[in-house]
Amino acid sequence: MTSSEKDSPPSTDPQANAARCFALVPCAGSGSRAGTVKPKQYELIAGQSMVMHTLAALQSVTRLYKTVVVVSPTDSHAWPESSVQRLQCGGATRAESVFNGLSALLAEGAHDPEGVQAHDWILVHDAARCLITELEINRLIDACLDDDVGGLLALPLPDTLKAAVNGRVSATLPRQDKWLAQTPQMFRAGVLHAALKAQAADHFEGITDEASAMEMAGFAPKLVVGSPHNFKVTYPPDFALAEDLLGSRK
Ligand code: C5P
Repeated sequence: MTSSEKDSPPSTDPQANAARCFALVPCAGSGSRAGTVKPKQYELIAGQSMVMHTLAALQSVTRLYKTVVVVSPTDSHAWPESSVQRLQCGGATRAESVFNGLSALLAEGAHDPEGVQAHDWILVHDAARCLITELEINRLIDACLDDDVGGLLALPLPDTLKAAVNGRVSATLPRQDKWLAQTPQMFRAGVLHAALKAQAADHFEGITDEASAMEMAGFAPKLVVGSPHNFKVTYPPDFALAEDLLGSRK
């Protein structure tokens, strides 16, 4: 229990008290920018596949009731037995993978009280952010559990921001109000599902994270300060950096 939970009176809303936190990990991308033969989330980093580091961090958070991974329908990765529940319903985009996974979880929850209910929290976290820590996940949960909307880990932009045309600077943009979005992103399962569903007909155009779907639905997600180490492994040099950082934690 956090100090703020201890100090505040118990909620009178029975659903608020019952809400649990689930993690959903989109893991169905091909990682084309990474230059790897297999999907980047299955590349070995510090002795195990990237996604296993990601799952280890999520599974260390005791307040996460369950973690589920969304993989491609054609996924052929040799997953360690009983490591985690996998849903083979990944889509053409990250947003579609999350939407398909969340739809499956809510359908499961409709006939299984142990499954995800609409009022439960869903923390969506990229398989490719293998440097996330228990501390950061708990910081997000602490900041969002009592919030009406939910939120995301993010970093205030440290650098000067340029707009470009044909590889040349066209403008210097104000950076005071700019943040770099990370994951996990934490929202109520039913609300996030409805927000994503509203974008399905447009093939999730412009929906590059859960917060953008929530924004389109009229919500203002809360920004919670993350860590520069929680970067998304994207380009070839990122693998060595991730390996060094994971190695330095041992
Ligand atoms: O490609 P990118 O690194 O932006 O993907 C972020 C996360 O979304 C990764 O964990 C990736 O596996 C996942 N993803 C997905 N389905 C897609 C594309 C990406 O689950 N179609």
